[in-house]
This record gives sequence, structure tokens and C-alpha cells, in this order.
Amino acid sequence: MRAFLLGVILGVIAVPVGIYVYFRNGTSPVAVADHPYPFEQYIVRIPLQARLETQVQQVPPIEPTSANLTAGALTYSQNCAVCHGVAGHSSQIGEHMYPSAPQLWERHRNGAVGVSKDPPGETYWKIANGIRLTGMPAFGKLLNKTQIWQLTLLLSQPGKPLPVGTAPKHKREDARSTGAEQKD
Ligand code: HEC
Repeated sequence: MRAFLLGVILGVIAVPVGIYVYFRNGTSPVAVADHPYPFEQYIVRIPLQARLETQVQQVPPIEPTSANLTAGALTYSQNCAVCHGVAGHSSQIGEHMYPSAPQLWERHRNGAVGVSKDPPGETYWKIANGIRLTGMPAFGKLLNKTQIWQLTLLLSQPGKPLPVGTAPKHKREDARSTGAEQKD
């Protein structure tokens, strides 16, 4: 019994000491280019999904009119394209993040373009609150609610052609490939 208790006490001490030594020895993965820890991506993904299931019921209070999509495209090109790219042009910054920022204008493995198949309330929540332990910022205090809904509507239809002149532009060739007007 004594030996057992001693074993438990040593175990209780040895585990945190071992973890501390591992983190202090300078080889644990902290660079974006390092291999992730096993199951690292699930640390956020599982609780995020649970949070979304309890909190997201909102229905967009505005319509995807041409004016709202145009405003959304402008906000997108100023705040989001740097990480998420635009149609036909990925962001190199977004690709070199961990986790990487998804291209929101490309078809993904689930067959949807960007987040266009996600419920609008989910996209709104992610833009407003950001995603912890990823580079996704919280825009709730940087943009107003209407702007976030305009972005949400824009992202819910990248598979459909946007009204002329509304496609976000990042570089000259993007504007050309999406048929947007070139002003600069
Ligand atoms: C600094 C880089 C950065 C900026 C700027 C940024 N994002 Fe993100 N965003 C990310 C990253 C990284 C993720 C991936 C998070 C993850 O893996 O869960 C993400 C995730 C998302 C998602 C969820 C994607 C999915 O597949 O579930 C949405 C929607 C989104 N961003 C929208 C936006 C919008 C809209 C803006 C501009 C208002 C924006 N982001 C600005 C980095 C950024």
C-alpha cells in the first residue's frame, strides 16, 4: 500500500515536471512551419462546434441586395482579402498561417465554395467573435452589425455571380478575372 501511494505521489510530481522539461528544452513545436501537436486542431474545433450549436440561430436581418453585396465586397477587400484571398487569387499570408486561412472563394473538399453552405448565423458568429487559437480576428468591435451581415451575405453566395462591380479586388488580374471594373 505504501509503495502504491509513493508511486502515485511520484507520478503526480513526475508528470508535470516531465511536461515542464519538454516545453523548456527548446524543441517543442511553436513555429508555424513545425508539425502540429497530435490532436492540436481539435482543441478548438470540437468546443467551437459545440458553442455554435448552442448560440447560432440568427437569420440575416438584411437582404442580399446589390447595394449590400457591394458594401460587403468593399469591406471584404479592405479587411479580409489579405488572409482569405479573392476569386482566382489566394493569399500567401493566409497560406502561411497555422492553421491556414481558408480560401473563401474556392471549392473545398465538401463541395462548397468557401463557407457558402454554412448557416449564415455561423458565419456571422465567426466574423464577429473570431476563432480562438487561430489567426481569425474578432471583428465585432471593428465593424458594425450591418457590415458583418453584409459580409455574411457576400460569403454565402460566392458560387453565384456577383452584381457587376462588386467582386472584391486584390490585384489587377483578379479584377479582370471576375469581370469587376478596374479603376486604378
Ligand atoms: C489575419 C488573418 C485573417 C484575417 C484578416 C481574417 N481572417 Fe478569417 N480566418 C483566418 C484563419 C486563420 C481562419 C481559420 C480558422 C480555423 O481554422 O478554424 C479564418 C476563418 C474564417 C472563417 C471560417 C471558415 C470556415 O471554414 O469555417 C470565416 C467565415 C472567416 N474567417 C471570415 C473572415 C472575414 C469575413 C474576414 C474579414 C472581415 C476575415 N475572416 C479576416 C484568418 C483571418
